[in-house]
This record gives sequence, structure tokens and C-alpha cells, in this order.
Amino acid sequence: MILTAKAKVAGVMGWPVGHSRSPRLHGWWLDQYGIDGAYIPLAVPPDRVIDAIRALPALGLRGANVTVPHKEAALRACDRVDPVAKRIGAVNTLVVAEDGTIEGRNTDAFGFMASLKADQPAWRAEAGPAVVLGAGGASRAVLVALTDAGVPEIRLLNRTAARAEQLAAELGGPIRVMPWEEREAALSGAALLVNTTTQGMGGEPALDLHLERLPVTALVTDIVYIPLHTPLLTAAAARGNPIVDGLGMLLHQARPGFEAWFGQVPEVTPELRRFVLES
Ligand code: ATR
Repeated sequence: MILTAKAKVAGVMGWPVGHSRSPRLHGWWLDQYGIDGAYIPLAVPPDRVIDAIRALPALGLRGANVTVPHKEAALRACDRVDPVAKRIGAVNTLVVAEDGTIEGRNTDAFGFMASLKADQPAWRAEAGPAVVLGAGGASRAVLVALTDAGVPEIRLLNRTAARAEQLAAELGGPIRVMPWEEREAALSGAALLVNTTTQGMGGEPALDLHLERLPVTALVTDIVYIPLHTPLLTAAAARGNPIVDGLGMLLHQARPGFEAWFGQVPEVTPELRRFVLES
């Protein structure tokens, strides 16, 4: 695509940024919709992130995604932060408004819920308790998404109990902390199981969890997407549980940013899934 002087430009700030799949993902959509625009990787070291964000309006950029390790710092660099990003405690999407001010959003909770709805439309938030494993950054977005969707009870378990206690105290709502050692008992009667830990990711050991006590109707999802089918998802599918892989969350969280910067609501398609995975 040859850009004109009117090209809309956005990008992703990270350090390092080479691992990010966002340029590939947004580049696909820009091509698909024939948009005069570009989405570029922006390698921004931690000591320059505030400067880099504040420079977006002067450069005429429409905004940017923010990835590791800048998501918390970005919260402080925006003129306005939306309520969801405040609760999650991190910003992953920056939008430069008409008046040149910078708005910080967090689209991870939206991406998580949109992925569940797209892949398993029969799942209902009210269907029963959810079990969430892990209490890191990804868990915060999942907890906010499930709370806002109206899940009646969220059983939160983390190897380091203090982190789970801290999250529950901050977020409130239907979150109930249970000891990591009771993770198998926690599965009883659950309607949803979410793994937000790094266990099962490529190169990491599988999550140490037997699924016997999980109802076979419960939806099982993992936010890890490399591999696409983690040992947890493989075990869940083998016993007949519906599953949702982690790639959908990555693709759906990108949609609000693309729409804000480029003025087009983008679609998540099977072709896009294949294209993003190929890299
Ligand atoms: P992210 O921001 O991507 O969620 P993170 O903040 O590093 O990443 O969190 C990783 C999660 O995986 C944490 O919940 C972590 O548990 P601790 O809080 O106890 O560290 C969890 N995790 C990592 N290795 C684990 C292991 N071997 N067993 C169980 N949980 C593990």
C-alpha cells in the first residue's frame, strides 16, 4: 500500500516490540478494507514511554496500542483514562482525540468476553460460578469482564495467595479467593474455567490440574495461545467440555482500537486467525 499525505497512522509501543503480532493483525485489516493507513511497531524503551505517548498528537498519529512493559506507565501519561482501564490498572489502547488530547482505554476485558461470545454463543454469564486461575495482569482483565457480565460467583485461585487477596480487595464484586491447593474442589458446579497463568504456554510445564470434578457442560478457556491448544484445552475437549482458545482474545481486543483509528469496524474471521498464527 502506497500511503498518501492523508494516511491514518497508528502503531504499537513495546520494549522489545518484535514479538508483537499486532502489526500483522492490523496490517491484515488495513489491506482487507483498502484503508489509506499504516500500523507500525514502535520500539520504546521504558525511560522514554511517557515522552513517546505525549508525542503522539504532535506526530499526527491517531493513537497506539501499548504492550509489555508499558501498560501501567501508560495509565499516567493519558489526559483521560476510561473507567474500565482504571479498574484493570493498565492501558492497552491510546486514542488521540480531535482536540489533540490522549484517551487511555483497556480493551482486554472486551476482547475476552467478545471471544467467548463469538466462539461459544450458548454460554451464559448467569449459568453458574466461574473459576479463574492466576492473579497477574491478564487475570485482572478477565475478572473485570466476568464481573461486568454478571457472573454470580468468581472463585479466584493463585499459587501466591496474597496476590489473589489483593486483587479481590481491589476489584470487589463476586470474587471469592480460594487456596491454590483446593483448585480441584473449586471446579465442582462451575460453569466456566479460565486459565490466566503461564502454565501450559510453550516451553512451560502443563497446569497441574485434574478435571474430574468439573461439570462436562462447563466452558474451558485459556488465555495462552501458543500453543493454540494447551494441555488444559486438549484435556477438556477430550472429556467433552466446550473450549475457547486464547487467540480470540488477542484478535477481539484489537477491534476497538482499529475502529477508533481507522474508522472501520473490523471482523475476526477464520482467515485472519490462520494469518496471525502463521507468523
Ligand atoms: P500476566 O500479566 O501475563 O498475567 P504474570 O503477572 O507474570 O503474567 O502472572 C503469571 C501468573 O501465572 C501468576 O498468577 C502466577 O502465579 P504467582 O502469582 O504465584 O506467581 C502464575 N504462575 C506462574 N508460574 C506458575 C506455576 N508454576 N504454578 C502456578 N501458577 C503459576
